Amino acid sequence: SRVVKLAVIPGDGIGPEVIAEAEKVLDAATAGSGIRFDKTRFSLGAARYLETGDTLTDADLDAIRQHDAILLGAVGGVPGDPRLKDANIERGLLLKLRFELDHYVNLRPSKLYAGAPGPLAEPGDIDFVVVREGTEGPYVGNGGAIRKGTPHEVANETSVNTAFGVERIVRYAFDLAEQRRKKVTLVHKTNVLVHAGSMWKRIVDDVAREHPEVDVDYLHVDAATIFLVTNPGRFDVIVTDNLFGDILTDLAGAVTGGIGLAASGNINPDGAFPSMFEPVHGSAPDIAGQQKADPTAAILSVALLLDHLGLRDEAARVTRAVEADVAARGTAARTTAQIGDAIAGAVQA
Ligand code: NAD
Ligand code: IPM
Ligand code: MN
Repeated sequence: SRVVKLAVIPGDGIGPEVIAEAEKVLDAATAGSGIRFDKTRFSLGAARYLETGDTLTDADLDAIRQHDAILLGAVGGVPGDPRLKDANIERGLLLKLRFELDHYVNLRPSKLYAGAPGPLAEPGDIDFVVVREGTEGPYVGNGGAIRKGTPHEVANETSVNTAFGVERIVRYAFDLAEQRRKKVTLVHKTNVLVHAGSMWKRIVDDVAREHPEVDVDYLHVDAATIFLVTNPGRFDVIVTDNLFGDILTDLAGAVTGGIGLAASGNINPDGAFPSMFEPVHGSAPDIAGQQKADPTAAILSVALLLDHLGLRDEAARVTRAVEADVAARGTAARTTAQIGDAIAGAVQA
């Protein structure tokens, strides 16, 4: 029987609440299948930092690297907590994992499931995937400030875009579009960010020549936010940089029934490093510890994880159970655990 070594990082806030449900569904989906998930739990995040002062040690990273995949809840403490002033859990933990494990594909599917409580009056069919670059852009931490705290302070945050990094994410987007509705939309801001923008555009045009069946579209990021609300059905695969992709995918979550449904994969397609699956949302300190969080995003992240591991049937069963649950959920209030139990039950049935 196959053993999959899974690193589980529940994290902070609602992270442990939604991961508990995601694990129930994972267990239900793989029960009796001959695949065993050998799980290691890593206590990382704001809570760990407050206890030990560590964010992600080399030993943690080495241990995580030994796994086949990672399931993460969310990290981040309560905003304004003075004890976390110097911590930066997001950079030191989440981004460090994405960079060190070369998660260059940040895959964020958006699908409007029947019955999902979207805010749009006439949403049409929404089914697109944002292929967000995960290791470059303004996220690299290439910046600095001088004359700090003075009226003449200068604070720079450089966006790093390499031809290597852009080409590999663009190729991934085109390959994905070939398996879908064969449309790629590049989202950037080429009218202002001319250096990075012209390189992204050129690489998209070059790769497009190898994919004559794929329709290529371009939108400036500001206009893309309009169409995500007025005509989301026009999108199939969106390829974009790290920061634009971050912003677009919260909006995409909102138009497809809420951030509680939005799943993601941080993928290292070459398989040299474990890929990491997590909801798009954060630790939601405003509702943490109250069983109010929707675990569906974490559960759909399990479906992405199963799919990534080649466990297609198991992934499909999770997705179908979520679809059925969303279709039937209506407006009745359920706890995080009630939603997880219902979906896990449907997966097993
Ligand atoms: P957030 O996504 O945590 O919350 C935004 C809003 O969405 C809140 O009102 C929250 O209650 C709601 N929400 C989020 N997830 C929900 C769910 N599953 N069900 C129901 N409602 C949900 O974003 P934020 O408030 O900007 O960030 C909070 C903390 O999380 C910050 O420290 C941030 O840096 C961190 N963060 C971490 C990750 C991650 O670990 N992957 C992602 C995003 C934000
Ligand atoms: C996300 C989050 C992260 C990001 C933060 C917490 C670093 O917002 O996963 O979308 O910006 O990528
Ligand atoms: Mn985000």
